[in-house]
Amino acid sequence: MQNKGSNILSLEQVSKYFYTSSGFFSHGKHFAALDNVTFSVKSGSSLGIVGESGSGKTTIARLMCNIYQADKGRVLYCGKDISTLSKTEKQEYIKNVQMVFQDPNNTLNPKLTIKSALSDGIKQHITKDKNEIQAYLEHFMGMVGLPCEYLERYPHEFSGGQRQRISIARALSINPKVIIADEPVSSLDVSVQAQILNLMKSLQKNGITLILISHSLAVVSNLCENIAVMQKGALAEYGKTLEVLSNPKSEYTKSLLASSSYTFMKNN
Ligand SMILES: Nc1ncnc2c1ncn2[C@@H]1O[C@H](COP(=O)(O)OP(=O)(O)O)[C@@H](O)[C@H]1O
Ligand SMILES: [Mg+2]
Repeated sequence: MQNKGSNILSLEQVSKYFYTSSGFFSHGKHFAALDNVTFSVKSGSSLGIVGESGSGKTTIARLMCNIYQADKGRVLYCGKDISTLSKTEKQEYIKNVQMVFQDPNNTLNPKLTIKSALSDGIKQHITKDKNEIQAYLEHFMGMVGLPCEYLERYPHEFSGGQRQRISIARALSINPKVIIADEPVSSLDVSVQAQILNLMKSLQKNGITLILISHSLAVVSNLCENIAVMQKGALAEYGKTLEVLSNPKSEYTKSLLASSSYTFMKNN
């Protein structure tokens, strides 16, 4: 159990390499998708990760969820290296760090009703009692603004925005401490983006730590206390969102600000 305000997730000098094959007879060349990245996320806080496409944002999310493993450095959950957690600690970590993916269409099994898709995690991590499971399901469907009748339906019966809400409900349904959302609205219509973002905002009122990857400085400044600016696999800047965006230290952050529609500075 970590205290509020202590580090819940940290990267310590993390590098991650991938191989590119550059020709038929040539050997693959490795490059750093992440290069010596260090930062921490405090319990109950919110972090926005920004940076151009290919800068390493998704790689960070995947390392934090143990989908990728660091080639150098360590990923810590509540101060402990995730590669050395005991079985019980690992189960707690898996339950508590949930990811919401960019494209909700690939994350829900088309053959399962929403009820089965959501019940699995609850059964595994929370309770096996049928009535309690039903109560959990109804609570989280309500939280993401969907009627309980939808539980009996299949993913193809929903719009992209609804599917993303279901993915969020599934992530929330096992009471995680951290939600890592990788561009959760970029595959959705503009009309439903605000609803999902409001939902993300409401999570923080419930004490959930939010790590939000976004293209939009406006979204991050609205939702996240802290910001990490990624550039070509390196951390260009990290700090309080308002401080970083009102007084950017790196040239890269300045250029991101100049090219975005973010207007906080101009308006204040
Ligand atoms: N599984 C992978 N295999 C090979 N290269 C990868 C893989 N995942 C990411 N990369 C590469 O690592 C770099 C960073 O990718 P990514 O973290 O997805 O960036 P972002 O999310 O900021 O767009 C990119 O050059 C990408 O092509
Ligand atoms: Mg990405």
